[in-house]
Amino acid sequence: MATTLLLFCILASLFLISHAQTCSNYTFSSNRAFTSCTDLPHLQAHLHWNYIPSTGKLEIAYRANQTSNGWVAWAINPTDTGMVGSQALVAFQNANGTMTVYPTPITSYSPSMLPGTLSFQVSNISAEYSNKEMMIFADVGPLDNGTVVNLVWQAGSSVTNNVPQVHSMSMPNLHSMGALNFLSD
Ligand SMILES: *[C@@H]1O[C@H](CO)[C@@H](O)[C@H](O)[C@H]1NC(C)=O
Ligand SMILES: *[C@@H]1O[C@H](CO)[C@@H](O)[C@H](O)[C@H]1NC(C)=O
Ligand SMILES: *[C@@H]1O[C@H](CO)[C@@H](O)[C@H](O)[C@H]1NC(C)=O
Ligand SMILES: *[C@@H]1O[C@H](CO)[C@@H](O)[C@H](O)[C@H]1NC(C)=O
Ligand SMILES: *[C@@H]1O[C@H](CO)[C@@H](O)[C@H](O)[C@H]1NC(C)=O
Repeated sequence: MATTLLLFCILASLFLISHAQTCSNYTFSSNRAFTSCTDLPHLQAHLHWNYIPSTGKLEIAYRANQTSNGWVAWAINPTDTGMVGSQALVAFQNANGTMTVYPTPITSYSPSMLPGTLSFQVSNISAEYSNKEMMIFADVGPLDNGTVVNLVWQAGSSVTNNVPQVHSMSMPNLHSMGALNFLSD
């Protein structure tokens, strides 16, 4: 009983992500629709998703304020709460106006940011840039540890030779993480 209570308190304290929603009235172009969303508390970012219980997969859309020169990334960290260990999807705009998007595992504080393989499945990945927001769409999962995950998201102002460059070390960039229950929002 005491252990259950302790676990509950720990989980409750991890639910850092605000439930204030301006995302719920957002309409995507094309025919994309998501049943759930949350406004992430930093970097003017929003996560939209559909959870498919039969497969354990999530269809996600991550969108965040960004200039055409910058990059955005969204990640699940299956083993920790911060940057290292994050299983990320990163997107940026090419000089010709098309978007590049790919998975990249964050293995250290100076990751390669090059395309790689994540610890969970990723399919149907794409990205768009519109209305000063970069958007990443993907199907992810199933996630071995269920629907409560540590999210990490990030943004940087420059991309050099198709490699996203180090992000700012200011407060929003260091606080852009938190736990989310995909079933509760
Ligand atoms: C959604 O709602 C918020 C606040 O209620 C508002 O500021 C925003 O303009 C709305 N967005 C759209 C796309 O209607
Ligand atoms: C959106 O991003 C741009 C470019 O990084 C930045 O200049 C601007 O301040 C951001 N908007 C807000 C409201 O933070
Ligand atoms: C599940 O959680 C355990 C304990 O935090 C962690 O070691 C493991 O890597 C996680 N597995 C996946 C696939 O997320
Ligand atoms: C745009 O640039 C990217 C990156 O250099 C390249 O992979 C892609 O083929 C280009 N697309 C077009 C339509 O030129
Ligand atoms: C890929 O995503 C698009 C847009 O959400 C969707 O219409 C399409 O059915 C998806 N394809 C697969 C194979 O899941």
